[in-house]
Amino acid sequence: MLKLKGSIKVSGDKSISHRALVLSAMSIGKSTISNLLESDDVMRTLNNLRELGIKIEKKNNKWIVFGNGTNGFMEPNRVLDCGNSGTTARLMIGAVSSNSIKCTFTGDDSLSKRSMSRVTKHLEKIGADIHLTKGDYLPLMINGSDKLLPIKHVMEKASAQVKSAIILAGLNIHGRTTIIESTKTRDHTERLMKYLNINFKNKKIKNGGKQIELNGPYEIRSKNINVASDPSSASFFIVGALITPNSKVTLKDVMLNPTRTAFIKILKEMGGKIKIKKTKKICGENVGDITAAFSNLKGLDIPASHSALLIDEYPILSIAASQASGRTIMNGLQELRHKESDRINSIAFNLKKLGFRLNIKNNDLIIWGKTNKRIRNANIKTFNDHRIAMSFSILNIIYDNKLKIDNMKCIAISYPKFENHLKLLLTEH
Ligand code: S3P
Repeated sequence: MLKLKGSIKVSGDKSISHRALVLSAMSIGKSTISNLLESDDVMRTLNNLRELGIKIEKKNNKWIVFGNGTNGFMEPNRVLDCGNSGTTARLMIGAVSSNSIKCTFTGDDSLSKRSMSRVTKHLEKIGADIHLTKGDYLPLMINGSDKLLPIKHVMEKASAQVKSAIILAGLNIHGRTTIIESTKTRDHTERLMKYLNINFKNKKIKNGGKQIELNGPYEIRSKNINVASDPSSASFFIVGALITPNSKVTLKDVMLNPTRTAFIKILKEMGGKIKIKKTKKICGENVGDITAAFSNLKGLDIPASHSALLIDEYPILSIAASQASGRTIMNGLQELRHKESDRINSIAFNLKKLGFRLNIKNNDLIIWGKTNKRIRNANIKTFNDHRIAMSFSILNIIYDNKLKIDNMKCIAISYPKFENHLKLLLTEH
């Protein structure tokens, strides 16, 4: 029997890594980025920035970005390929839109099925000329302008990517760009802007939402950035320890931003033994050590109001639910249908194959834990989705590695060191 024991530091945060690169490129001067996540997705952003004329070098394990300012992108000679990365596509479309250059964006099959109009409709409203495939998808051609209009944007969907795209555009727009967000989403762009001394307003409004107010164009001074470790990557080992008998792991220096750690609250409510020790602050983000030990989990009803803050953790929460006693209901998962795969379907397909009782009602996922017949040697279909591959690799620990996962390579999208880190923690009883 296998168990998880020991302590590791997971890789740098994916969301912050994208933002550290883009904001450094839009600063004036040299920024050194430490602990950048070197995953396929982040490298897409890095290479797109290079195509836009930004010099980026690696030296002594750190990345050095020579920023050209908020109006500093040059027209690329090549198509900007975003691969599998929704964050690259949405953030970069926003960032280039307020420079007067023409760019074409493409992506892989999965990304070409994901909506881009959720970003571009805001940019078209302020004067960007954009041509989408079938009105919503990549490939997309954008004719940017440094004369976009400063207006008030009201966010329809809870999406940190869309919010960040408008913010990045707004950094080079003359006048006041306002963004109203009624449902809280991850706020790394705002935190990093504060760390970079960008002068903007970020205030709470009635009904729990917030209003961001920019007054561009900005001259951002470069500053070195240290990327905190990714809580979404840590979530796999945390759940691994909770569901595997005799396990106890500590994840060091994990970013503890409350817009990212809602899954810990949920796992604790399910009975998970998790302890957090806050240690320091890195570039505007609190970090700390998280310890998790084997626990008798119980099912939980997770309200839809939490979904924006749990968005990337539902696959691994489903694995926790499969090992909990009783029923877990995950409400309001419609946005999961628009991720790297239709994650409601990807989770349900595989758990059902393993004999778990499961129901999908509209966009709610209901899982009855511990009801599987312990089917061995099953083939897991990842749908080329990194978070599905990692989630079922964790379930595989209690299946003694008998599950065959069809694509482990896709894990490099967000966490190339996942398998190495898992090996470091795995021990035989
Ligand atoms: C991200 C935001 C989330 C998340 C994605 C990364 C970001 O997407 O699912 O993995 O870095 O802004 P949405 O904001 O579109 O929900």
